[in-house]
Amino acid sequence: MKSSFNLNNLIRENIKSLKPYSSARDEYKDTNVSEMIFLDANENPFENGVNRYPDPNQNNVKQLLCKIKGSDKRNLLLGNGSDEVLDLIFRAFCEPNEDNVITLPPTYGMYSVLANINAVENKTVLLDEDFQPQVKQIIGAADKNSKILFLCSPNNPTGNSFSEATIKELLLKFKA
Ligand SMILES: Cc1ncc(COP(=O)(O)O)c(C=O)c1O
Repeated sequence: MKSSFNLNNLIRENIKSLKPYSSARDEYKDTNVSEMIFLDANENPFENGVNRYPDPNQNNVKQLLCKIKGSDKRNLLLGNGSDEVLDLIFRAFCEPNEDNVITLPPTYGMYSVLANINAVENKTVLLDEDFQPQVKQIIGAADKNSKILFLCSPNNPTGNSFSEATIKELLLKFKA
């Protein structure tokens, strides 16, 4: 069975049309930096190695990571811990007060905290007695506003992984 998954169809319209923030420094980066005096960002002008904002796009560390991973910078997202990335996922895909996510307790508690912060309903479907996802119940709980299904594997707090067959079945049947 072929999946009809298309990431573009899932992203919130306001996020798709977002114009990214650009600092004055981005706009003048072709100018000779050694001749510039920076007064724009409330930084400490006395150079001590940590007085300037770091690169917001983390280009240097991404370049190093891409070499190790054989990946492309465009495919790399770095977060302040994975909790920040989880929050970004909510913000990119879930319309507040409209969409919902599905989580499978007992599982990582941050999913429901982030759902509350983002005004997104958290539908819960318990794991079975072997701490595996219950596919039929999960698909039954999903509706047209279900945007994310969190499969925490290995799961916190149970420590087990989910069976490959179950994950494949969910990937094919869960229509976000
Ligand atoms: C399943 C799971 N995901 C994410 C995190 C968050 O980790 P961090 O933000 O430190 O990367 C934790 C932390 O316990 C976790 O158990």
